[in-house]
Amino acid sequence: MTSGKHKIKDIGLSDAGKDRVDWARANMPILRALKERLAKEQPFKGHKIGICLHVEAKTGVWLDTLMAGGARIAITGSPGTTQDDTAAYLVRDMGVEVFAWRDETFAEHMENAERVLDARPSLIADNGGDLHYLLSSQDKFRELSRSLQGATEETTTGANRLRETLPSFTFPTIIINDTMAKRIVENRYGVGISVVDGIMRTTNIMLGGKAVLVIGYGYCGQGVAQRLRGLGARVTVVDHEPMVQLEAHLEGFNTGTLEACIGGADIIVTVTGRDGVLQPDHYKQMRDGVIVCNAGQNASELSAIELYDMAQDVRILRPDIEQLTLDGGKKIFLLARGNLINLAGGDGNPIEVMDLGLALQTLSLECLALRSETLECKPQTVPQDIERATTRAALEAWVG
Ligand SMILES: NC(=O)c1ccc[n+]([C@@H]2O[C@H](COP(=O)([O-])OP(=O)(O)OC[C@H]3O[C@@H](n4cnc5c(N)ncnc54)[C@H](O)[C@@H]3O)[C@@H](O)[C@H]2O)c1
Repeated sequence: MTSGKHKIKDIGLSDAGKDRVDWARANMPILRALKERLAKEQPFKGHKIGICLHVEAKTGVWLDTLMAGGARIAITGSPGTTQDDTAAYLVRDMGVEVFAWRDETFAEHMENAERVLDARPSLIADNGGDLHYLLSSQDKFRELSRSLQGATEETTTGANRLRETLPSFTFPTIIINDTMAKRIVENRYGVGISVVDGIMRTTNIMLGGKAVLVIGYGYCGQGVAQRLRGLGARVTVVDHEPMVQLEAHLEGFNTGTLEACIGGADIIVTVTGRDGVLQPDHYKQMRDGVIVCNAGQNASELSAIELYDMAQDVRILRPDIEQLTLDGGKKIFLLARGNLINLAGGDGNPIEVMDLGLALQTLSLECLALRSETLECKPQTVPQDIERATTRAALEAWVG
């Protein structure tokens, strides 16, 4: 369903989307309190915020908060993670410019990201660095890039890209992921729970006794490994940093090289934030019937495109379970086409976790709207007062 102001699956799904967002709203007290203040102070008046973040219910509550503060919004999500009913509700009832649908390809996702920038935002909230990439690589966005007041970047992969591969910018970018609040509360606890939930909902299999290989033992990987162990899985951790691997060993996980561990796994989860961690040769070493999924930002982490190229046959067995038959008859079960399993297979991180994370986003955007001239034009950490205020608000809401 398309108009100049939106491109979504089906506006008729709005009522279901409203129910979803209302449930999330009932469990987001931090954003509720922020909304009340922002509605009075109107810090975003005159601003349009261009957003790339999963189009799902918690994001809907966040957009409502920003709009109460005077913002207009254009948004896209990520491949495989859009809730089509939430997208419809955002368009019909909130007047958000939404460019996203669940089964969009990566190429369509990048076109949607362009549409967000075509909407001429004055502030950006990015996730994975795709908006920043377009701003730096496309001539047609050069002027927009110069006029932007500032940006945020949500996640580890985007932070890595901004710091390692993208050129410097003409505006400040606040990296939400740099906070301990985000890394610990969301990446470790939130992702840990939701990835396990996503695998279980998608497959309906028991995890107890299964040999699970977790590749990447950063903040997210630690949470995933711990929760899997808690459910009785026999967890092996592979991380290419020796110190991190040692930490996993001291925590009691089996560890080893990828080559040594890959053949023994019943389930493999990638969560590194880096491309090509699993290569075509690795699939040849896996056991027949292995389940493979990804919790990192992009399906390129497990080389999804290359895996499909290797497959002689692809059969959809359940929503988000594909059976790929390789040369010689070996079967690989790929979940959610390699997209983020917790969002594609479940509802993403728990609502409370995103209440905190999206409060960090809100206050960082408010800082950019009101005092961007005090910040340097480069990627930088969230101002300390914002992280403390958010953490205090979470303590009040959760502990009392
Ligand atoms: N699913 C979600 O909801 C969600 C939420 C937050 C972050 N993420 C994403 O999860 C990914 C991981 O984030 P993080 O915060 O844990 O990152 P991190 O930087 O804390 O940890 C990544 C770990 O992977 C290891 N690693 C990197 N390349 C490797 C390789 N080739 N082989 C083995 N180990 C390797 C690193 O040494 C590091 O220990 C990122 O893509 C991030 O954007 C997903």
